[in-house]
Amino acid sequence: MDKKELTRNILELKRQRNAVICAHNYQIDEVQEIADVVGDSFALSKYCASSPRDVIVFCGVHFMAESAKMLSLQKTVLLPEIHAGCPMADMVDAKGLREMKRNHPRAAVVCYINTSAEVKAECDICCTSSNAVKVIQSLAEEEIIFVPDKNLGDYIQKKVPEKKMIIWDGFCVTHHRVTSKEVQKAKEAHPDAVILVHPECRPEVVELADFVGSTKQIIDFATASPGKKFIIGTEMGVLYRLKKDNPEKTFYLLSQGLICPNMKKTRLESVYHALEKMQYAIEIEEAILIKARTTLERMLNVQ
Ligand code: 13P
Ligand code: SF4
Repeated sequence: MDKKELTRNILELKRQRNAVICAHNYQIDEVQEIADVVGDSFALSKYCASSPRDVIVFCGVHFMAESAKMLSLQKTVLLPEIHAGCPMADMVDAKGLREMKRNHPRAAVVCYINTSAEVKAECDICCTSSNAVKVIQSLAEEEIIFVPDKNLGDYIQKKVPEKKMIIWDGFCVTHHRVTSKEVQKAKEAHPDAVILVHPECRPEVVELADFVGSTKQIIDFATASPGKKFIIGTEMGVLYRLKKDNPEKTFYLLSQGLICPNMKKTRLESVYHALEKMQYAIEIEEAILIKARTTLERMLNVQ
């Protein structure tokens, strides 16, 4: 099937299944093009919770589809590529977290949305990169266990110095690879460009940025900015929307290494097969689901 035929068949199957297609900002251009909604982790989880459709095709990585399922229990949530995982989410497990909790019994336990349902079930509240500071500020406890991203944890600690953050030693392999040397080089090459980075980058990279935010916040900032040139410090998938919405502006990727291989696994063919065969449906064990869902819902209630 060529791209035109694939697209036509996907749209027809989507209608027959009463499905909605959600895509993360890091998905390949063609997948973003056919999606009903494209966004960051927070926007997509909120959208899924309110969608009236029977089926959600989640083009992203496993923890995102799992979160969508937790917020849409009566719906079928499909992850088109079953092996699209998040290496950072895999860096923390429930057993290790339970041990950390035993060592810090007074601490509130906060997980980044980039975690498995099993880990979420061990936590008090969840956060995403777009609301992490707000979530931590909303907590009464002074001590906070934060899993799994040490870079996001460091960023929050600097924004909320009154809290004592106990931070897991995880990181995103894609964002952690970017060095401050690369930022200096990009600055020298484009001295009049604004530097926008994701908080999953190393602290020394975040320090050199003009703006730090989630993928959606980066896109919104660049779109609203009067600036003309931008250095983008997050996964290259965001360039699709940035360029489309801002044809008069120029975007430079901070590092050529900013590619998440797992986000690139989903192709138009994967979406077609997902709808055709209703694969791969996300299932979560009942006991874990109930606890993990509470952790997610608490986040959605933070104003
Ligand atoms: P966002 O919440 O900013 O979309 O980020 C998710 C993610 O996995 C970043 O690497
Ligand atoms: Fe996970 Fe990093 Fe890929 Fe985001 S970019 S899904 S944190 S590996």
